[in-house]
Amino acid sequence: MKFVVCVLLMSSLALAAETRFVCHYTTWSRDRPDEGSFQINDIPGNLCSHVVYNFLGVNETSYQLELLQPDYDLGERAIERFAALKDQFPHLKLLIAVGGWAHGGARFSEMAKFRTRRNQFIGSVIKFLHQYRLDGIELVWLYPGNFDRGGAVEDKDTFLYLVSELAKVVRDEKKPYEVVIQVPVDISRMAVGYHQEELCAAADFVHMVGYDLRGWWNNFADVHSPLAPRPNDLVMDSFEHVNVGDGVQDWLEKGCPPEKVTLGVALFGRTYLLDDPLDNTIGAVTIGAGDPGPYSNEPGYLGYCEFCHNLTSDEWTKKWDDVGLCPYAYTETTWIGYENERSLQEKINYVKQKRLGGLYAFSLDLDDYRGACGEPFPLTRFLSRYHDETKIKDWHIFVSTTERKEINTTEGES
Ligand SMILES: *[C@@H]1O[C@H](CO)[C@@H](O)[C@H](O)[C@H]1NC(C)=O
Ligand SMILES: *[C@@H]1O[C@H](CO)[C@@H](O)[C@H](O)[C@H]1NC(C)=O
Ligand SMILES: *[C@@H]1O[C@H](CO)[C@@H](O)[C@H](O)[C@H]1NC(C)=O
Repeated sequence: MKFVVCVLLMSSLALAAETRFVCHYTTWSRDRPDEGSFQINDIPGNLCSHVVYNFLGVNETSYQLELLQPDYDLGERAIERFAALKDQFPHLKLLIAVGGWAHGGARFSEMAKFRTRRNQFIGSVIKFLHQYRLDGIELVWLYPGNFDRGGAVEDKDTFLYLVSELAKVVRDEKKPYEVVIQVPVDISRMAVGYHQEELCAAADFVHMVGYDLRGWWNNFADVHSPLAPRPNDLVMDSFEHVNVGDGVQDWLEKGCPPEKVTLGVALFGRTYLLDDPLDNTIGAVTIGAGDPGPYSNEPGYLGYCEFCHNLTSDEWTKKWDDVGLCPYAYTETTWIGYENERSLQEKINYVKQKRLGGLYAFSLDLDDYRGACGEPFPLTRFLSRYHDETKIKDWHIFVSTTERKEINTTEGES
């Protein structure tokens, strides 16, 4: 028995490698009132392996990288101060995210259309990363090939050209930059926008958006990051495969190397107004978005910091989706699907089981970073603990022992 345990431990250590734990900083969170204002010096660099600055954009006429808030990015030296996080946390890798929802897909589509334009963009990215001594870029094109988002049919090809050419320039110039793409797990988006296998081969890392898979716009109450299909998804049109497990599995089956996959988790909830307060199960009819929060100020959306305290009150009924493995809660007509430590543990278990490269959290300013409900940054800290576990100090000793053995076995056989 002892022998078996030892062998299992050895093999799991041999396969272990330090996982990524990528944290996202959002520039717009600084404008929130009072203690809701999240500043660059609030970034807990000790908890993350990477921090991403959201967002920069693509210039419509020059096709170069563009600052979206020059008064802040440059005027208030935000990018410089962001880059200086490395003085305080030397282990940190710092990336810029380009694109996002408000930016839209049209400018990517226009830029990626021709090689000369892609070269303009790529050149400006390399220059920018060099100038600020940053470590890489995450492309957040939402979504290639999607007409509603300003896309075109050829986006599927041109997105791949963009990623491949960017990665090639980085390699040829021997730059240490990470080329990261953010991609959906909703498999209905794949056919029009993503050469999945080739994209994964070209990019260094693939950040998969494992949240926002449901919301008030669907007109039924549900958690927004289920790990597996629930019975309810079969009766709801076209939701059968819209979940984290099916989405990630699709990428893996298309040939995406698991160690490049970084699973995204939400530090926010999606809220709804129930049609009937007595009908509050998953799938209940909803008539709109829950009220905006005092900080994030968006209907149907609440940062964990905006509701964690409410959930301690008896007024809220707290439930668990035992197939999707996510919590939800309701009071009167307000319904929320969110993530907590239990559901994040399930996501961590999934990452371990599939041997994925790690996790990212969106976003730091939505966690309870002032500690209104206890220790500051509870969810970020929870995820960080898993990242820490994978940094076993002497794991390479086990690996090298195992490697030598493997080589010897191979030699013996041949
Ligand atoms: C976009 O690029 C053009 C041409 O270089 C420049 O004149 C313009 O200021 C840029 N726009 C922004 C918003 O940076
Ligand atoms: C949470 O509690 C605060 C303070 O009591 C209240 O203003 C807010 O409306 C509550 N939020 C929700 C979603 O019920
Ligand atoms: C390889 O295996 C042989 C026999 O199994 C053993 O004698 C030898 O010491 C091993 N070599 C190493 C480097 O472990």
